[in-house]
Amino acid sequence: MYAALKSIGAYVPEKVLTNKDFESMVDTTDEWITKRTGIKERHIAADDELTSDMGVEAAKVAISRAGLEIDDIDMIVCATISPDYFCMPSTACVIASKLGRSNVTAFDISAACTGFIYALAVAKAFIESGMKKNVLIIGAEKLSAIVDYTDRTTCVLFGDGAGAAVISATEDKSEAITDIHISADGNYGDLLMTPGCGVKNPCSEKVVEEKLATMKMRGNETFKIAVRTLTSDVVNILQDNGIEAKDIKHFIPHQANYRIIKAVGDALQLAPEQVVLTVGKYGNTSSASIPMAMNDIWESGRLQQGDTMLLDAFGGGLTWGSALLPFAGKSAN
Ligand code: ACO
Repeated sequence: MYAALKSIGAYVPEKVLTNKDFESMVDTTDEWITKRTGIKERHIAADDELTSDMGVEAAKVAISRAGLEIDDIDMIVCATISPDYFCMPSTACVIASKLGRSNVTAFDISAACTGFIYALAVAKAFIESGMKKNVLIIGAEKLSAIVDYTDRTTCVLFGDGAGAAVISATEDKSEAITDIHISADGNYGDLLMTPGCGVKNPCSEKVVEEKLATMKMRGNETFKIAVRTLTSDVVNILQDNGIEAKDIKHFIPHQANYRIIKAVGDALQLAPEQVVLTVGKYGNTSSASIPMAMNDIWESGRLQQGDTMLLDAFGGGLTWGSALLPFAGKSAN
């Protein structure tokens, strides 16, 4: 039995925060943000809109596009670093409940921006082992809830949103996910972290005053490791599978920074039409960024059944990963 990605869906909240908006919030400019990151705007969830709500909307689209009903789903995996609740219940459990599905395997994955690729790997393993048939994987983030909007070095980078995909068992090898690499190096955990509200710094007045429950990042150091690691990872996955970069139809990288994407794309000598770019309009939505980008090209008709995709991501942990797979769902038109 093989695992195939059968559908993609996404949800983007309505409210938009532009670079211009930030000019009156912190000491920054549209020019700096555009030049250093490629980001022009990002979407922000409503106050009463939770990570699970966005995950549910993306999931409904993905399930329907796979031609399935919620009762056909036998496992729900949600990748997120902005869960509805600290510790429990998991956001996957909340999503299962909101979708009206009980008695189902459901759990979260914490791998920051690499979360969607980790979830894809877990789905693949469960399906290939014969344990599950239809796995719903979700990347959903309300990062606006864990951003310090007085810190110009991070607040301009992040946005909210969700993406989801259905991974199903198939006997057709041409539909199968070809390969996935996932890895981590915890020695660099302090480059990108939310120091507060875990057991090391339990919630307290100090945590609130010092904003320790928001994202802190040593951006420049992270940038350098990201470019180096992602480049070698995508080169390796292509070599391992005897595939040349020119044969990739869509390179769908994590959308953190245009300059990182460009550096990896250039290293692979990819043509601009092979590279999917959504960072300008969504910013960095962590685990949601790859499925949101995939959904964009599906809805525009650019992603067609059978197209070869190369995914890559890098994030807090540090974690990183890449995946090679055909799009096994129906084309939009
Ligand atoms: N506006 C104006 N100036 C700014 C801003 C801003 N918004 N932010 C930082 N600066 C200033 C800095 O203070 C610094 O000033 P100084 O030279 O006077 O000290 C200067 O700009 C340069 O700062 P750098 O941090 O060196 O800028 P850099 O070019 O590296 O860009 C960025 C910063 C965009 C964060 C980049 O380093 C980056 O994208 N890093 C990687 C992010 C990433 O991939 N993270 C992993 C995924 S995220 C996750 O897992 C949740």
